[in-house]
Amino acid sequence: MTAPGAGPIHLAGRFLDVILARQLRPREQAEVATLLRTGAERSMYWDQARADQRHGLAAARLVRSRRPHRSDLVRAALLHDVGKRSARLGPVGRSVATILGRLGLVGPPRFAVYLDHGRIAAQELDRAGAEPLVVAFALHHHRERPEEISREDWDLLQAADRAVLRGS
Ligand SMILES: [Fe+2]
Ligand SMILES: [Fe+2]
Repeated sequence: MTAPGAGPIHLAGRFLDVILARQLRPREQAEVATLLRTGAERSMYWDQARADQRHGLAAARLVRSRRPHRSDLVRAALLHDVGKRSARLGPVGRSVATILGRLGLVGPPRFAVYLDHGRIAAQELDRAGAEPLVVAFALHHHRERPEEISREDWDLLQAADRAVLRGS
């Protein structure tokens, strides 16, 4: 299990994103709605923190701009972090969980859930009938590229995972 995120600058940026994220505007909500296929996916996505909703949309937009006809890739980007919501952590808890994870320490159960968000999302998405790529990217996005995801798709999804949509 790898801690999400990279260095201290990334951490500080994510902290600010979580604090400052605004609710998606109606036009953005409508855009997301076209990408969600089941009631289960809708609850997973809309139950996320606002920053995670914005991050998913930013990632999906980046993928769509490069591969407009690959709905599985776009949806993989949109949904990859839905497991984070299960931890119910605020900005401080997320940062602490990430730092402890990087030190090899797990901490309270909610921190472990946060650090395990890829696997949790993959299980939920699989149960909801999402495409194999959507499930695989959720599971592996903080790990090494698995065989079932091509290098080209992986590189695009990893670039998308660095995308942030700031509220305005
Ligand atoms: Fe993640
Ligand atoms: Fe992400």
